[in-house]
Amino acid sequence: MLRKLIAGNWKMNGLKAEGVALARDLGIRYAEDEDAAFDMLICPPATLIDSVGEVIAGSGILLGGQDCHSETAGAHTGDVSAEMLADLGCSWVIVGHSERRQDHGEIDLAVAEKAKAVHRAGLCAIICIGETEAERAAGHALSICSRQLAGSIPTNATAENTVIAYEPVWAIGTGKTATAGDVADVHSHIRAELSRKIADADKVRILYGGSVKPANAAELMSVPNVDGALVGGASLKADDFWAIGQSCA
Ligand code: PGA
Repeated sequence: MLRKLIAGNWKMNGLKAEGVALARDLGIRYAEDEDAAFDMLICPPATLIDSVGEVIAGSGILLGGQDCHSETAGAHTGDVSAEMLADLGCSWVIVGHSERRQDHGEIDLAVAEKAKAVHRAGLCAIICIGETEAERAAGHALSICSRQLAGSIPTNATAENTVIAYEPVWAIGTGKTATAGDVADVHSHIRAELSRKIADADKVRILYGGSVKPANAAELMSVPNVDGALVGGASLKADDFWAIGQSCA
């Protein structure tokens, strides 16, 4: 079994006081839990990365960005590079989240370029994939995941620098979660597909995301090939996010 990764994606939420308070609360809990059976990662909005990094320093919690540009620096108004995230103490970056794919028209090739940039900066990429409701209804869930994996994983990916997050679009922020059986099917399919792209595919962590909460976390985390969770809404509440981590025990 791979050590589980519980990643909080705060999205565009949190002003400084509340973000710092949430991070401090989690930092204290994680630092005190010497036997934590999971890695904890927080991905705050870019505006809070620096201050969240300060309060979780020394706690063992990992820090990440939610997106990055594919280039190191330059005339790209509003963007941040992977090197800039590394400079703030990030060791992880989420790329290809479905909200980026939808809101910013990011295609697989762009996601692969971003993941390559994450690796260039010495960081780990969480590459997100997942089908829409219409694609699932049409019976295309597995083929969509295959296409996204083939196009979004850069050639230098390894189990050390890459994590896959399966996030069915229809389950994100909706309260609907995939059944344990569906998650098992997709995750084992992803594991098989990964062996085409990555030498040590059996060591790549595959996260599930989409309305993960304390009430469903233990069941989801016990599904074969589920190596953690990417959590949105429930990562904004310390008790809920902590309970999801505890469900990995
Ligand atoms: P959710 O978001 O937990 O609020 O469904 C998950 C995600 O988008 O990463």
